[in-house]
Amino acid sequence: RKPMNILRMKKMKQEGIPLTVITAYDYPSAKLAEEAGVDAILVGDSLGNVVLGYDSTLPVTLEDMIYHSRAVARAVTTTFVVADMPFMTYHGSVDTALSNIGRLMREGGCKAVKMEGGAEIAPVVEACVKAGVPVMGHLGLTPQSVNQIGGYLVQGKTPEQAEKLLADAKALEKAGAFAVVLELVTDETAAKITEELSIPTIGIGAGNRCDGQVLVFHDALQYSSGERPKKFVKTYANVGDQIRSGLSQYVEEVKARQFPAEENTFHGERETVGSLYG
Ligand code: KIV
Ligand code: NA
Repeated sequence: RKPMNILRMKKMKQEGIPLTVITAYDYPSAKLAEEAGVDAILVGDSLGNVVLGYDSTLPVTLEDMIYHSRAVARAVTTTFVVADMPFMTYHGSVDTALSNIGRLMREGGCKAVKMEGGAEIAPVVEACVKAGVPVMGHLGLTPQSVNQIGGYLVQGKTPEQAEKLLADAKALEKAGAFAVVLELVTDETAAKITEELSIPTIGIGAGNRCDGQVLVFHDALQYSSGERPKKFVKTYANVGDQIRSGLSQYVEEVKARQFPAEENTFHGERETVGSLYG
């Protein structure tokens, strides 16, 4: 497989080939995602919720993003890796934003960054693109602004909201973004934005007419403890149940002295060269 890049992603939009994106935060999950054939991996700041145990994305730091992005980047060869700029690291002066973005690209080893917001972040997006950094936008429900929005609410419902979203999407395109995530946006509004833009839209809870889809790894695979699945998520595997039953069996077998068994055991007299693998 040829390495994915932003030119190929734009071409896929033109050809009507859906883009597949999944989040990943570490080496094994990124490896599995690449093996499954995803086009791009997003090292999302959803990391805060699904891996670090925070109740929002706000506590996630630039250091957290660099650390996890680096693990993902080490795992893949052809998959395009995009990493999220965390809360409050790309506002204020463009210079400060650029220095933070530079760290995530250099130290995190990603190929592009994602930022939440519309026209108001266009100057930063433009500066990034001029510096050679591809930018993915993110509109609709932008979790870093949850306290400003007032909750995890569906966006683009009224004609005014829809118009504002479209204007923001166009501002991002004009600033040079190569794609834009639409999160929790009504099907109609997401379809309209998708039609009006020349860059791909990647939906999550934004209907079936976006140019691509993204899901959070732990949501799609139910890799968590007892969370109720969200309406916009489909459970493609129930990894949580598998892990729970595997670990319970391990506990039982150790308590019963069934594990380790003879085949897992080394004996000095019989084996001249001890080896890790059977
Ligand atoms: O952090 C994340 O996982 C995201 C996706 C939901 C788009 O931003
Ligand atoms: Na995010």
